[in-house]
Amino acid sequence: MNIDWELLKKEAINASKKAYAPYSNFPVGAAGLVSDGRIVSGCNIENASYGLTLCAECSMISNLLMSGGGRLVAVICVDGKAELLSPCGRCRQLLFEHGGNELQLLTPSGPQDMSVILPWGFGPDDLDKKN
Ligand code: THU
Repeated sequence: MNIDWELLKKEAINASKKAYAPYSNFPVGAAGLVSDGRIVSGCNIENASYGLTLCAECSMISNLLMSGGGRLVAVICVDGKAELLSPCGRCRQLLFEHGGNELQLLTPSGPQDMSVILPWGFGPDDLDKKN
């Protein structure tokens, strides 16, 4: 599947502009290409109870499910300066759930498989291996 990283970056930047980040002043945008060709995006949504903050990837995955589901093929995350952002540990787990090892994440050294971003990740397949 052809991945238009420039388009995905534009979508992520647009999403970052919708961020609700009054506490950190650190807007984040995420955009993902879905297996059916859709593009989904999300922004971070903070809370006065700081620990309840939703990351941009979390918001993007809500949009993935609410707009019809499917598998994530490629994802890009950016900060408020449109620089590539490294997803936090929790979000790597969220991305892995919806894209698996083949999902491509754009990093400063080019696209990388999730198997590199989250090595030996725990996922749905592990739940099938009940003791
Ligand atoms: N943030 C994200 O949206 N995604 C990440 O992967 C890392 C951090 C947000 C959470 C918070 O609103 C702000 O960045 C500063 O941590």
